[in-house]
Amino acid sequence: MKKRKKLGFFRSLRFRIMTILIILGIVPSVVVAGVLILNYENRAIANRSANVRKQCEIIGNLLIQENYMNDTASPIVSTRIEQLANIYSGRVILVDRSFRIIKDTYGTDEGKTLISSIAIQCFKGGQANGYNRESQYIELAVPVKSPEVKQVQGVMLVYVNADEINATIREMEQNSILIIGINIVVAILLGLLLSRMLVKPLSRITKSIEDVTDGYQTGEIAVQDYTETALITEAFNKMLSRMKLLDDSRQEFVSNVSHELKTPMTSMKVLADSLVGQRGLSEDLYQEFLSDITMEIDRENKIITDLLSLVKLDKTASDVTITHVSINHMLEDIMKRLRPIADQRNIDLILDSFRQVEADVDEVKFTLAISNLVENGIKYNVDEGWVRVTLDADHKDFFVTVQDSGMGIPEDQIERIFERFYRVDKSHSREIGGTGLGLSITRSAIAMHHGNIKVASKEGEGTIFTVRIPLSYIPEEVNK
Ligand SMILES: Nc1ncnc2c1ncn2[C@@H]1O[C@H](COP(=O)(O)OP(=O)(O)OP(=O)(O)O)[C@@H](O)[C@H]1O
Ligand SMILES: [Mg+2]
Repeated sequence: MKKRKKLGFFRSLRFRIMTILIILGIVPSVVVAGVLILNYENRAIANRSANVRKQCEIIGNLLIQENYMNDTASPIVSTRIEQLANIYSGRVILVDRSFRIIKDTYGTDEGKTLISSIAIQCFKGGQANGYNRESQYIELAVPVKSPEVKQVQGVMLVYVNADEINATIREMEQNSILIIGINIVVAILLGLLLSRMLVKPLSRITKSIEDVTDGYQTGEIAVQDYTETALITEAFNKMLSRMKLLDDSRQEFVSNVSHELKTPMTSMKVLADSLVGQRGLSEDLYQEFLSDITMEIDRENKIITDLLSLVKLDKTASDVTITHVSINHMLEDIMKRLRPIADQRNIDLILDSFRQVEADVDEVKFTLAISNLVENGIKYNVDEGWVRVTLDADHKDFFVTVQDSGMGIPEDQIERIFERFYRVDKSHSREIGGTGLGLSITRSAIAMHHGNIKVASKEGEGTIFTVRIPLSYIPEEVNK
């Protein structure tokens, strides 16, 4: 088992899915429980306060009737007040207009003065009540006033115990905690299940890719569980087949190179052997054999030069030498150099420039690219044929086309002509001469200029190559 670079559980899809589910499970239940408990508390306290207030008002009337504010002798009133305090397990304090306590159900503070804010508020005509959460008491101040005089004669301060309400609230809280706990457990279990379900195909993809990497599996991988995994495997399979293709072409390239380099060697060996093996040969024969050997050396030399320029072009673009030059002049020079070869077979070389074009190119590489195309146009042409080169440009790119009246390329092979060492008709091409590297060099040189090359051809009618290159050279860093 290979060591895998792990980001840890906290960065895993599994952990994220579980976290989301837990949050989704907890947050709503906490909010709902909080709101319910708060609502209950408010309503319970309001109800309790209203009840107590009602009873206080009844006792208040009795107080006035019995003139209790001036004389606390009335046993009925005292009993009623005591009863009220008992029912709510609280305390009732009665203060007169001078804030003196005339009745305290605890019996401790009678005769003392009590100045409390809710009592003052009450004397001013307001009603006051509140809830002291710390001591868990509901505080209530009820004015004592006679219906006729309308003047507040005293204030009943009632402290009612809210233990019962609090007990209910505590019970509700405990229930909520239980529900939230159950929610968390369910969320974790669901999260485990869901994440397993979601992550499993991904693990299977990883396993398959590892198997391919380790060589246990040679074919394509297939994990079709979800659209997404199907897409990943499809992309991976595409990459795999491309890599296989690259590997094949690399192997083919190596065997081609060895073969191509060996052929001239073998010829030279044969020629040299016959010279060594026979004595007293005529000088003419020597001359002939040696010139054949020279030809083979030239051929070997060309292959090596081509290979070297290809290798150079394959490297990074760091060694391009870009200058701003007239493309018209460069094409004219190319045509001038190749005209003698074309003339040998009476092939017409035509240059049509639609406008003056100046662009940023690497002179050597660009010349190489276009020369190869024109050379092919001449080589794979019929006697008395023609090769026509045109030059045009728009605001961004310039275009060079190289068209010939030659033999054309079979449709099924058009795709392959840019491959290294690829030649359409091996026997015919050999007779014409060439290594099959020309178009690879052309394509690499154009790619270096961030341009592209297209080809259209019809067998027996001719071929047209279209090259597009940006007028301004874009350095690699900007392109990325
Ligand atoms: N204009 C053309 N008309 C017909 N066939 C062509 C033309 N250009 C290229 N081809 C075909 O494509 C093949 C590859 O061309 P390429 O220029 O890469 O190699 P080559 O001409 O055989 O050798 P080299 O250019 O390296 O001397 C040629 O062998 C030929 O069969
Ligand atoms: Mg060529």
